[in-house]
Amino acid sequence: MEKLRIGFLASHNGSNMQAIIDAIKKGELDAIPCVVISNNSNAYALERARREGIPAYHISSKHFETEEELDNAILETLLKHDVNIVCLAGYMKKVGSKVLRHFRNRVLNIHPALLPKFGGKGMYGKFVHEAVLKAGETQSGCTVHLVDEIYDHGRILGQKVVPVYPDDTVETLSARVLEQEHKLYPEVLQKIAKGEIQLD
Ligand code: GRF
Repeated sequence: MEKLRIGFLASHNGSNMQAIIDAIKKGELDAIPCVVISNNSNAYALERARREGIPAYHISSKHFETEEELDNAILETLLKHDVNIVCLAGYMKKVGSKVLRHFRNRVLNIHPALLPKFGGKGMYGKFVHEAVLKAGETQSGCTVHLVDEIYDHGRILGQKVVPVYPDDTVETLSARVLEQEHKLYPEVLQKIAKGEIQLD
C-alpha cells in the first residue's frame, strides 16, 4: 500500500487522534496526518489539529440541507487533501454512504470494548463501560475495526484486553481502556503501513 495519508473525523477530545499524530512524530508510525474534520466547532480535536499545523475543518449537518450534501462536502475535503485512509476518532456521526463507498475498507474506527460484545447503536462512551460493568465482565478492552454501514460491525483489525476489577467505576474502567486505545490505534495503522494487515 502507498504511504498512509490519514484523514481524521472527530467530534470531541481527539486524544486517539493525538496518539496517532504523536506516534508519527516519534517515527513509530509511517504515515502523514493530512486533515481533521469535525462536526463540532468546539471540538478540542480541531484545536489539536491547529496546534499541529494540520488543516482543520468544521463540517456540520447544520451547514447543509441534506445528509447527501454533508456526505459530499466531507468526501470533497478528504479528496482535496489526498487522503487514502480515514480514521474515526470519537466521531459521533454516522459516516455517509459516498465516503464509505469511496473509501471502502479504508475507514477505521476505535471502539472502547471487545467487539463483537458491547457494540451497536447507542453503545458509545460511558454507556459501553456501564454495560460491561453491569454484565459482570472480568475483562474489557478496545477494538480497531473497519467501518461499514452497520454500527461496530466491520472486520476487526486489532484488540487489546484490560482487566475489570470488582471496584471499578465507569471512570476507572474507561481510563484503563483509553490508555490501551492510545497504543492500539497507532499499532494497527503501522501494521497496515507495513503490509502486515491487508485491507482488501
Ligand atoms: C474513545 O473511547 C473511542 O473508543 C470512542 O470514542 C472515544 C474517543 O476519545 N470511539 P477521544 O476523542 O479520542 O479522546
